[in-house]
Amino acid sequence: MEKQKSTDSSAKKGKPIHAEPEQVTELLYQMLQTELGGVQIYTTALRCAVNSDLKKEWEKYLQQTQRHVEIVETLFQTHGLNTEVQTPGRKIVKHIGESLVAAMQMALENGDKAAAELVAAECVVLAETKDHLNWELFGEVAKHISGEGAKSVRDAVTKVEEEEDEHLYHSAGFCRELWFKALSLPAVLPPPEEKKHVKSALEAARVKEQRKEMAKH
Ligand SMILES: [Fe+2]
Ligand SMILES: [Fe+2]
Repeated sequence: MEKQKSTDSSAKKGKPIHAEPEQVTELLYQMLQTELGGVQIYTTALRCAVNSDLKKEWEKYLQQTQRHVEIVETLFQTHGLNTEVQTPGRKIVKHIGESLVAAMQMALENGDKAAAELVAAECVVLAETKDHLNWELFGEVAKHISGEGAKSVRDAVTKVEEEEDEHLYHSAGFCRELWFKALSLPAVLPPPEEKKHVKSALEAARVKEQRKEMAKH
């Protein structure tokens, strides 16, 4: 609490803001693990996907996630960090990622393809919620870094953040609409989030309101 108070007062006085270096390092370890887990999650989710639009989306997201692994590895080099280090926080992220893969495998073994697709959509949304948070946080960290390479880090972060918006909001849209379909209620597939290229929580909320009209037609 004390730390929080002193950060707030220095911000008010206009002093430069610096993120806690140890916590930035922890965030980077969790980011790498989230992306590595993401590759496994999309690989398994693609085995569960039935809807062809969803398959296409997830194939694209898998490629982008593989690229995110490389981008985080580059950030590790910049920060002089070892990609093999397992912090307690990173181990938790790994455990959650493996659990999501195991959940999809369980659903596949049950043999109901539509049910497995729903499980996969939920697993992707859970994984992407963490991925999105990581990059949102790192985006704030990157705003305050200076020196050589700072611009290229910020450019890379901006590009990834846009992709993470799509991963989360579009996947959440697919998940919701696939559930409506399973419930035999009017569904909008592909979801309006994808059609309208939603890239923020505000746009996602707007589109969710509009979908009620779309579902009637
Ligand atoms: Fe990612
Ligand atoms: Fe992602």
